[in-house]
Amino acid sequence: MAVGIFDSGLGGLTVLEAVQKRLPEVPFVYYGDNAHAPYGVRTADDIYALTTKGVQRLFDEGCDLVVLACNTASAAALRRMQEGWVPKGKRVLGVFVPLIEALTERRWGDNSPPREVEVKHVALFATPATVSSRAFQRELAFRAIGVDVEAQACGGVVDAIEEGDMMLAEALVRSHVDALKRKMPAPDAAVLGCTHYPLLAKAFADALGPDVRVLSQPELVAESLADYLGRRPAFIGGGESALLTTGDPRKVSDRATQFMRRPMTFTAA
Ligand code: DGL
Repeated sequence: MAVGIFDSGLGGLTVLEAVQKRLPEVPFVYYGDNAHAPYGVRTADDIYALTTKGVQRLFDEGCDLVVLACNTASAAALRRMQEGWVPKGKRVLGVFVPLIEALTERRWGDNSPPREVEVKHVALFATPATVSSRAFQRELAFRAIGVDVEAQACGGVVDAIEEGDMMLAEALVRSHVDALKRKMPAPDAAVLGCTHYPLLAKAFADALGPDVRVLSQPELVAESLADYLGRRPAFIGGGESALLTTGDPRKVSDRATQFMRRPMTFTAA
C-alpha cells in the first residue's frame, strides 16, 4: 500500500519531493487540506479535527502509514491522535522528532538521558500554533540540556505562499528574521519548523547570514522514513501514487507545478 503524506496545503510537497527521491520504489498519496490552510492560526481542537479527517481520508485510500508533513499538526494533534484515535494496524508519524534528533546528534531510538550538545543557541521559525504549543522545546528537553531556544511565530508567511505571493512571503521572512535577531542576535542554528518554509530557504539563509546553520526538514524526514520502513517493510506495498486536495484542484495544481518545477496534477479529495 502507498504511504500517506498529509499537510494543511502546499508545504508538505517539500517533504513529498524528498521522500520520493530517497524512496523511488514507494508509492505516496499526498493530501493537502488547502481549503482550510493555514492551520497555524487555528486552535488545537480545530487542528485536531481537520487532521484526523485528512488522515482518515488517507486510511480510506489504503494507506496504513501516514506521515504528518506538517509541524503544526505534529505539534498540536499528533500526541492526542496516537493516544486514542489511530486504529490498530495503522501508524501516524510526525516530522518534529527527526529534526530534533539531528539537532541533538542522536540516532533513532536513542533514549539515553538528555546531554550537552554542540548547538547552544537555536532560532525556531514556525507557525503561531506550533510556537504556542511549545512542542519543540518539550521534545528538545528530553534529549539535550543547556540549549537556549528563541521562537519566532511567522504570521502571514503560509497565507502568502498558499496565495502564490512570494514577494510578500519573502518580505515577511526578512521582518521575522529581524525580529528574531533582536531577541537572539547570534543564533548558531536556525530551524525552519514549518514545511512551507523550505520554499523560502534562500530568503531565510540570506536574512540569517552565513554564520547560521539552517536545518530544514525534508531530507531529515526522508532519511528517517527510509530507516523506519527498513525496520517495518510490511508498510511498503503496492498502490498508486496520487495527489489529493480539499481546495480547487486546478488552482492547487498550478501552484504546486510552479513550486516543484514539474507537472503536478491534483484531484479532489
Ligand atoms: N506546513 C505546515 C507546518 O509545517 C502548516 C502551516 C499552516 O497551515 O499554517 O506547520
